[in-house]
Amino acid sequence: MSVRDDAITAHGGGELIDLKAPASECAALREHAAKLTAITLNARDLADLEMLTTGAFSPLTGFMGEADYTRVRDEMRLASGVPWSIPITLGVDESIARSLKPGGEVALAAEHGQRLAILKLSEVYKVDRVKEASAVFGVSEDQHPGAKNVTSMPPWCLAGRVITIEDIPGRTFLEYPREPRQTRAAFRELGWKKIVAFQTRNPTHRAHEYIQKAALEVCDGLLLHPLVGETKGDDVPAAIRMETYKVLLEHYYPKNRAMLAIMPAHMRYGGPREAILHALVRRNYGCTHFIVGRDHAGVGSYYGTYDAQKIFERFAPGEMGITPLTFENTFWCRKCMSMASYKTCPHSDDDRLLLSGTKVREMLRAGQAPPPEFTRPELAAILVRAMKESN
Ligand code: ADX
Repeated sequence: MSVRDDAITAHGGGELIDLKAPASECAALREHAAKLTAITLNARDLADLEMLTTGAFSPLTGFMGEADYTRVRDEMRLASGVPWSIPITLGVDESIARSLKPGGEVALAAEHGQRLAILKLSEVYKVDRVKEASAVFGVSEDQHPGAKNVTSMPPWCLAGRVITIEDIPGRTFLEYPREPRQTRAAFRELGWKKIVAFQTRNPTHRAHEYIQKAALEVCDGLLLHPLVGETKGDDVPAAIRMETYKVLLEHYYPKNRAMLAIMPAHMRYGGPREAILHALVRRNYGCTHFIVGRDHAGVGSYYGTYDAQKIFERFAPGEMGITPLTFENTFWCRKCMSMASYKTCPHSDDDRLLLSGTKVREMLRAGQAPPPEFTRPELAAILVRAMKESN
């Protein structure tokens, strides 16, 4: 079945982008790439390259040019007007930028030198990374991990269409779907029409499970879709998180209603702006709905609890092509004797089990499992063990 037959178009209304070179052309393109100037990509660039290659970043066909960059930064739209909230750029040192001309080609290479893709250079331009960080994150200070990543990128950018000739090296969790075409095919097979995606960079706690299942009550299927690209140092590593997701799905979700797949993107900690990016990417993965809870993609106290929900009001519903399902802060209430939220629970904070992420990390470091009303014991055991092994 072709992509055209999908009920869900790709973001921007067209077909999913596919930047992989046809198998029949790979050998010739590899020979050609060997002769080009090579640009070495870091782990975050590689994650962007993979997202571009598979169409997860549709309608982008490569690293952004200046018109897209500027409008995304200032108005959260591509030059075409399509919503997009975070610039996707390839930063290079000035000496490299000055040696290249639009119209030429460069090879995009992994750290060990393997050439992975060819970039057809349409533009070489310079940006202001501090201005970019301030627009995207609200701050440009180094304490903000996303802002630090952006301001540490060189201001010179290479833009243009990408043709990918090799699999991205170092990919993990290969047994799980990671490309939009794979999840879309799986949804068709399962017969799901209303599909809700859950973005996560944390192990699953009761609050996550509660909002996932609340969403599943009104949808046909749940895509549990952890981000497995680079995260900040004190986040729980993806391999451990994956263990918790597997156990959860195995024992607490009906097999024909929930699916685990991975998203190779890196975490930007961009709060509201990243919530928009997370949503439109999930449309590309074939989802119709997207969960946005409290402080989505937040870090520290940079964003208001519901800022990442309010930002969706800036776009007409049809423009995003995916519907946000928003949830209040949820918790276990001892008086309700169930999970609840400020919307559904009439009791006071004294009756509620409210633990911050920092507090939970402290408990785990001390070898202590969070209470069962906060984290299922099987999952807490995985986290305590992992924390012990890392000490
Ligand atoms: S995130 O950076 O990927 O957003 P996390 O994995 O903790 O972090 O959150 C995944 C999703 O669950 C986000 O939409 C977030 O807003 C939501 N969420 C996490 N904890 C809660 C909670 N206690 N109540 C409501 N929503 C929550």
